[in-house]
Amino acid sequence: MASIKKEQYAIAPGSRVLVTGANGFIGSHVVQQLLSLGYVVRGTVRSQKPWLDELFRSKYGPNSFESVVIPDLSNYDTLSKAMRDVSGVIHVLDANGMTVDTWNEATVKAAFDEGTPADAKPFTVYVASKTEGERAAWKWVKNNKPPFVFNAILPYYTVSERMGQALMSLYNSSRAYQWSLNKI
Ligand SMILES: NC(=O)c1ccc[n+]([C@@H]2O[C@H](COP(=O)([O-])OP(=O)(O)OC[C@H]3O[C@@H](n4cnc5c(N)ncnc54)[C@H](OP(=O)(O)O)[C@@H]3O)[C@@H](O)[C@H]2O)c1
Repeated sequence: MASIKKEQYAIAPGSRVLVTGANGFIGSHVVQQLLSLGYVVRGTVRSQKPWLDELFRSKYGPNSFESVVIPDLSNYDTLSKAMRDVSGVIHVLDANGMTVDTWNEATVKAAFDEGTPADAKPFTVYVASKTEGERAAWKWVKNNKPPFVFNAILPYYTVSERMGQALMSLYNSSRAYQWSLNKI
């Protein structure tokens, strides 16, 4: 994927990089990318996840990846110890405490707020409608206990196959992409 030489990377392949939330969706992809580029990765997890070590070591070798359990990332001593011999840190995890009971209240409020700028209103109302629609659906499920499993899927954004290829082509050739690889 990279068109620049590995010697140009800001951090030399073979160096150790710490990735927070290594078992997460994005975190595990970041680990995978780093390993494929030749980095050694230490990943933070909140509880033991032997499957994660097995997954990466089976593909990239026994010394490629190690997980370190840090239940509380605000613990300075534990985090310092995990960072002691790394050349870089990629902080991925989201510790904002989002739960299934977290809702986008700010946007719902903004949708009904007369002070919301007119040009921001349509998208704000659109987003708020998604929030309220999902909230109503979960409420209905809770009250009616239907004989099926309900799931809500919240896509970040979607592009068609053709559009996706066009975007990737543009992205691959962009200076921003080159720059981001230089900074790895
Ligand atoms: N997924 C996307 O499409 C997407 C797009 C853009 C941005 N992002 C951002 O990328 C980041 C990761 O998202 P994700 O989709 O990969 O989430 P995810 O799959 O839910 O992974 C979250 C990771 O963070 C850990 N974590 C959560 N709360 C924590 C806390 N209080 N202390 C320590 N670790 C904690 C989780 O550990 P446990 O497994 O132990 O809970 C897990 O390793 C988020 O900031 C998200 O906003 C995601």
